[in-house]
Amino acid sequence: MAVGAGLAVAALLLAACSEDLPQNALDPEGPFARKADVLWDGVFWVAVAVFIVVEGLLVYVLFRFRHRPGRGMPSQVHGNRRLEIAWTILPALLLAGVAFPTLGTLFELSRRPPGNVLDVEVTGHQFWWEINYPDEEVVAANELHIPAGRPVFVRLTSVDVVHSFWIPKLAGKQDLRPGQETSLALQADRPGLYLGQCAEYCGASHANMRLRVFAQSQQDFDEWVRRQRRAAPPPPQEVMQVMQSAGCAGCHTLAGAEGFAEPQVGTSTIGPDLTHFGERTTFAGAILRNSDQNLRAWLRDPLAVKPGNDMVLPRRLSEAEIEALVAYLRSLE
Ligand code: CUA
Repeated sequence: MAVGAGLAVAALLLAACSEDLPQNALDPEGPFARKADVLWDGVFWVAVAVFIVVEGLLVYVLFRFRHRPGRGMPSQVHGNRRLEIAWTILPALLLAGVAFPTLGTLFELSRRPPGNVLDVEVTGHQFWWEINYPDEEVVAANELHIPAGRPVFVRLTSVDVVHSFWIPKLAGKQDLRPGQETSLALQADRPGLYLGQCAEYCGASHANMRLRVFAQSQQDFDEWVRRQRRAAPPPPQEVMQVMQSAGCAGCHTLAGAEGFAEPQVGTSTIGPDLTHFGERTTFAGAILRNSDQNLRAWLRDPLAVKPGNDMVLPRRLSEAEIEALVAYLRSLE
C-alpha cells in the first residue's frame, strides 16, 4: 500500500519534469526564460550541496552519539569560538554567492532590453488580462500576439488586486499591482502557442485566469495588427436591441457599434473589448474554447461558468436573444 502510494507520488513528480508540459519553466523556449533557468540550475546545485552537508552531519551525529546501555552523559560543551565564526561566515558567503547572480538576473529580466523591442501593456482584472499595444494602437484581451525572435517588453499593472503574469516557457513571473507599474522582458525563439496562468491568488476564479501567447512570424504579426485595427461590422437591429437592454456597453468596448465606446489604449474597461471577439481562440480568461456552444453557456449564466467574475446580467436572456448575440459576436473577426 505504502509502496504503491510512494510510486504514484514519484510518477506524478517525474511527470512534472516531462518536457511536453505546456507550462514548464525548466523547458525555456526563449532567451529571457533561459537566463532564469540558468540561474535556477546554479542555485539548485548549491542547495543540493548544502542539504547533503547539513543532513549528513546531522545523521552522523545522531548515530555516533546515540544512547547506549552503560554509556553516560557525553561531555557538555557550550560555545566554540572557531565553530561559531565558521558557521556564521560560511552561510553568509554562500548566500552572497547566490544573491549577486539572483539580483543581477532579476534586474536584467525586468529592464527594457536593447534592440528592436515591441512594447506591450498588460492590465490585470478579476479575472482576465487586458492587453494594449501602445505603438500599434491595438487593444486585445487574454491572447497575447507577439513576433517570434523579437524581444517584447511588458509593462504590468492591475485595476483591482495583485495578480501575477506567468508564461513559464517564455519569461519569469512578475506581479501586477494596483497603482504601480512592474515590468518584464520576454521573447519566443520560434512561432507557436505558449500557455500562461495567473500565478497569484486573486479571488474565486484565480484558477480561471489563464493566458495564451501566440508567437508569429513578423509578417503574420503585422497582418494580425492590421486586422485588429479595423472596426467591427455594425450589429444588426435585433442584436443592437439585446445589447442595449443587457447593458453590454456599460462594461465592454466595440469599435463601430452605436452606443459603445471605442477601445482606447491606456483606458481600462470593466470587460474585454469585443471588436475582434470572433478572432480569439478562447474567451472568459482563456478558459473556454471560442465555440457557439460555450458562448451560449456563458451568456445563459456567466457566473455559473466562472464564479466571481464581473459579468452580471441585469436579467436572463432568452434563447432567441442568446442565438442572435452568439451569431454576431462569433462573426467579429
Ligand atoms: Cu489573477 Cu490569480
